[in-house]
Amino acid sequence: MNRNQPVAAADVGHTVAMSSTGTTWVRVADHLAPAEQATVGALDHGVTVGDGIFETCKVVDGTAFALGRHLRRLRRSAATLALDLPWSDDALREACAETIAAAAGDPANAPLGVGRLRLTVTGGAGPLGSDRGAVDPTLIVAAGPSVPWPATTAVATVAWTRNERSAVAGAKTTSYAENVVALAEAHRRGASEAILANTIGALCEGTGSNVFVVVDGELCTPSLTTGCLAGITRELVCELVPVAERDDLTLDHLRTAPEAFLTSSTRDVHPIATVDGVALAVAPGPRTAEAAAAFAALERTELDP
Ligand SMILES: Cc1ncc(COP(=O)(O)O)c(C=O)c1O
Repeated sequence: MNRNQPVAAADVGHTVAMSSTGTTWVRVADHLAPAEQATVGALDHGVTVGDGIFETCKVVDGTAFALGRHLRRLRRSAATLALDLPWSDDALREACAETIAAAAGDPANAPLGVGRLRLTVTGGAGPLGSDRGAVDPTLIVAAGPSVPWPATTAVATVAWTRNERSAVAGAKTTSYAENVVALAEAHRRGASEAILANTIGALCEGTGSNVFVVVDGELCTPSLTTGCLAGITRELVCELVPVAERDDLTLDHLRTAPEAFLTSSTRDVHPIATVDGVALAVAPGPRTAEAAAAFAALERTELDP
């Protein structure tokens, strides 16, 4: 693809396919059921004000990949929101295993297998407003199939910003309305992900992914001070290959990069083919291929790195 070729919108349908494939099983408190039978209270603070945190993990061979890191981040997010988590790691691991097993046993999931797990913790039943009720939080665990992404993807930069000085910067909260709006805009423009800068113009992250760019031959990613989420895939890639974490990258570094990629628990290392409809020189480029190979090798050898 050359620099002026328009974006193919092929991967935009990924989200639609994902929601219409197989049956997600959901455990709310101790009740495990197919998604359409799983319910939380109408006055749950997660429902009324988005007071909650979550984790999405890839499921590999029936096991949640890097679950230890995900549970640690869940606890960091809980601390940021001052949410008490009354469950031990063992209890959470057991809830995850049970939900994955239920999804894996559902014949509707036979074609794709179980590919993703989500843990959500909300503030629990609360008053109608931002004050939290004096109740236990709600735990929701969901597992189901995941549709593989196309080999490369298109991204769109958007003008909305990530607030690096937000009270919840760096926490993985369920208040994702800003991401919903930005992602819909990316889809309108034929891309599978929207890329945001922060309030001072530094390249930050996607709505559900971290971003890596090659600048002057060096693989770089926005530092956590830009307000991006400390992605588990990002963290692993930074441990596997040399990466410079920088707070001075801009959207232009992404637009002019010879190669770039996204990382997330569902995308792994996902090469970016086009930015705002303009093709990067190569996808995957050599640095992307190196990171992808190292990550794939890790996943083959260690499920809880
Ligand atoms: C805002 C945001 N950034 C980055 C990521 C990537 O994080 P991880 O690699 O842990 O999936 C996510 C994951 O959903 C996210 O929501």
